[in-house]
Amino acid sequence: MDIPALGSVPDADATRQEARRLGIERHLLEMHAYGVTIVPPERVGSPDLIERLREAILRVLAERHDLEVPEDWRTYSENWGGRRKTWCWLLEDEAFIEAALHPVAMCIARFMCGRNVVLQGTPAIVKTRDGGEYRQDTGGYMRLHTDTHGVPSPLPEWAQLINLSWLLTDYNGPEDGPTVLVPGSHRWGRMPRPDEALWWEEGAPVQPVSLSGKAGSLAIWHGSLWHGSRPRTTEGMRITLPFIYGRSYLQPIHTWSEVIREGDNRGFLEKYPELEDLLGLWHPYPTDRDGPDAPGNLKGNRRMIGVGDNIYA
Ligand SMILES: [Fe+2]
Repeated sequence: MDIPALGSVPDADATRQEARRLGIERHLLEMHAYGVTIVPPERVGSPDLIERLREAILRVLAERHDLEVPEDWRTYSENWGGRRKTWCWLLEDEAFIEAALHPVAMCIARFMCGRNVVLQGTPAIVKTRDGGEYRQDTGGYMRLHTDTHGVPSPLPEWAQLINLSWLLTDYNGPEDGPTVLVPGSHRWGRMPRPDEALWWEEGAPVQPVSLSGKAGSLAIWHGSLWHGSRPRTTEGMRITLPFIYGRSYLQPIHTWSEVIREGDNRGFLEKYPELEDLLGLWHPYPTDRDGPDAPGNLKGNRRMIGVGDNIYA
């Protein structure tokens, strides 16, 4: 019996069938079982996009901070760009929109956060060996934490959000300054205590594993998974583009409904109509108008009523 083909659970069937078509069912299983998975570059299948994303991040960061783009990111090791102005990438270059809407990314995001998943926000991370004052108090180590900000414990087992990170440079080993993760911790339902967070200290109660993957991989983890990171100890840059996808009831990180209508950004909606759904532009909340004819009224908003059957069936 082929359950996804029965059409009995609209919210699940299309996602399962899409995962089968893309050859990524194993990764859905790993997300469910461990709360983390790495999709290798050959499954993502967009080598050209990886290059464009990397170039766009360096170009835009340079513009935002009035810096020169380093001649070679493979060897540049000085502090560069810092931690300022590292959010809100989606509309800076079409490469980011293509990445956000990538079929592999969308399939996993829908599996984890529902079929009306909303893009919450887009940071970018550039890490170098000589990263300056960044995390000086911990020697460059990042404490274990969850990404489900603003949601008090107990955290439910089902994901409120996921972190879907495009690895734009190789994560070969600890020297590259990778993320560290605790597989299975998404089921613990809480954030680490302060003593658990300092994972690099001798006798630490929780031992995370280092993430590894080639440039072009997607590293995805459940929003409640415990994770941190290591300092980079080798030359060159670690460049990463995380996309945060969440359930439609979460407060988005960026005010998409405003920025998408500013100036030239309107053209993106015409070219990529899927953004209407992905950015939650249909969502009636927040609203300060509650009259019967106001746009915020739920009546007739098909996406708010029985989500699966009504929107996509
Ligand atoms: Fe994080």
